[in-house]
Amino acid sequence: MALVWVITGASRGLGLGMVAALLEQEGTIVVAAARNPDKAEALQKLAERYSGRVHTVVLDTSDEASVKAAAATVEKHFSDGVDFLINMAGVADSNFVSALQTEGSEYLRVLKVNTVGSFLVTQAFYPLLKKGNTRTVVNVSSRGGSITNHRAGGPISGKIVAYTSSKAALNMQTAVLAGALKDDGFIVVSTCPGWVDTDMGTRSDFDMPGIKPDLTVEESTKRHLALIAKLTKDDSGKYFSAANDKEIPY
Ligand SMILES: NC(=O)c1ccc[n+]([C@@H]2O[C@H](COP(=O)([O-])OP(=O)(O)OC[C@H]3O[C@@H](n4cnc5c(N)ncnc54)[C@H](OP(=O)(O)O)[C@@H]3O)[C@@H](O)[C@H]2O)c1
Repeated sequence: MALVWVITGASRGLGLGMVAALLEQEGTIVVAAARNPDKAEALQKLAERYSGRVHTVVLDTSDEASVKAAAATVEKHFSDGVDFLINMAGVADSNFVSALQTEGSEYLRVLKVNTVGSFLVTQAFYPLLKKGNTRTVVNVSSRGGSITNHRAGGPISGKIVAYTSSKAALNMQTAVLAGALKDDGFIVVSTCPGWVDTDMGTRSDFDMPGIKPDLTVEESTKRHLALIAKLTKDDSGKYFSAANDKEIPY
């Protein structure tokens, strides 16, 4: 029995890396959701190479109509259900600045994609996930969304308020949905993939002297998938680091 994985943000970075890694595993089918899948060259190459095991679908997490249309399209192909939803799509603040310089429109843009967007995707795919075998939702958050860590200080202290709050709110969404979907036997978790050498992870304004991304996409993805494979219902509502398997304090 093939397991069906739905991955948002599949055009590049960690989303694309997860699509590639899953296709190397036997018995997986991937729904690769992206804003512009036709323009995502690497994704198109995977779709050609693994014809029949990759289904691309248009999905913009900031556009509710697009999210609903994507779920309806997936339902046509996978009416028996889907197994895993990975809410990977995400954006960061345009500038790595002190919180006081962040404009309201910028704050809302990030919350819309990262927090409300992930919620809308989970809501839209819930009926299909309920029909599936594993009923697992992974909200890809960030260590930067830990209020406990932020209070402890460090290089991002006082900065990137939109991204950090969007991920803190995503973590709360994980906890709330874990409660809402408990009786359905769902597993809902937040994860941090580690600091990874993607477009987001290598932005020049994130550059801090002596501190660099410590994981490649391949290494992060390997650890992320190993973490997901071990999840049980007791883990629902928790927040994990894929880099070291440990729980992150909220
Ligand atoms: N890299 C890191 O070090 C790191 C650390 C902690 C957490 N994370 C999290 O990991 C996830 C993936 O990050 P990444 O490093 O792979 O980032 P990335 O290289 O910047 O890729 C971001 C992905 O999100 C997609 N996306 C952006 N806005 C979207 C929207 N409105 N609707 C649908 N897709 C959208 C992008 O699609 P387009 O190609 O269409 O723009 C792209 O596929 C994010 O949630 C990020 O917060 C990353």
